[in-house]
Amino acid sequence: MPASPTFSIAVLISGNGSNLQAIIDAIKNNELDATIKLVISNRQNAKGLDRAKEAGIPTLLVDHTLYLNREEFDQAMLDALTRYQPDLVVLAGFMRILSAKFVSALCGKLINIHPSLLPLHKGTHTHKRALEANDSIHGCSIHYVTKELDGGPVIAQSQVPIYPNDTEELLAVRVQKEEHRLYPLCIGLIAKKKLELVDGAPVLDKQPLTNGGIKFRQSNYDTYYLK
Ligand code: GAR
Repeated sequence: MPASPTFSIAVLISGNGSNLQAIIDAIKNNELDATIKLVISNRQNAKGLDRAKEAGIPTLLVDHTLYLNREEFDQAMLDALTRYQPDLVVLAGFMRILSAKFVSALCGKLINIHPSLLPLHKGTHTHKRALEANDSIHGCSIHYVTKELDGGPVIAQSQVPIYPNDTEELLAVRVQKEEHRLYPLCIGLIAKKKLELVDGAPVLDKQPLTNGGIKFRQSNYDTYYLK
């Protein structure tokens, strides 16, 4: 029997690419059965481009400043994605708002990571805002992307505590550690077809996910890796 083709992804980045690195490492360590077909960056100096090249992954720069408007920029990315035909498109620190056309062309195949416990703290400066709000917990969310900014249905969240005297920097490090575990795990669930978007709602093992998706705290991940 011919082997089924490996689940393929494209990753869109704008900067450091530490989440991209976590996905590359998870694949290398056999924790994630997938292949990265393409990395797209909208910024030439994104460190994530170097990480991709180092791992031998095809890269593409689609510089948003060279396009007349959002629609043309998004179309250039869609054209590239159409050429590569990934099973899933993963936004990993991609800091451009996407047009409705882009989002609907990839409906159910486009996920994002956001550094807060959505629906709290949509947008930017999430660690600063969690501290200012005196939140006692913070974290990150993985969600399907819809036209509403940071508003699509949540697949999973990982929580971290906020300690007295925390700073934005300390909190960012704590949250990113969770991001690096959570993103490969969620991609793996989608790759194994355990998780999918059905009628606009995430479904895990045929059960609709409600209330902010699968909940993790620091270090209770093992059971999901073992499934
Ligand atoms: C991550 O913390 C991610 O959650 C955030 O950007 C960072 C990218 O880091 N994304 C957003 O804020 C999207 N709204 P990385 O480039 O090192 O992966």
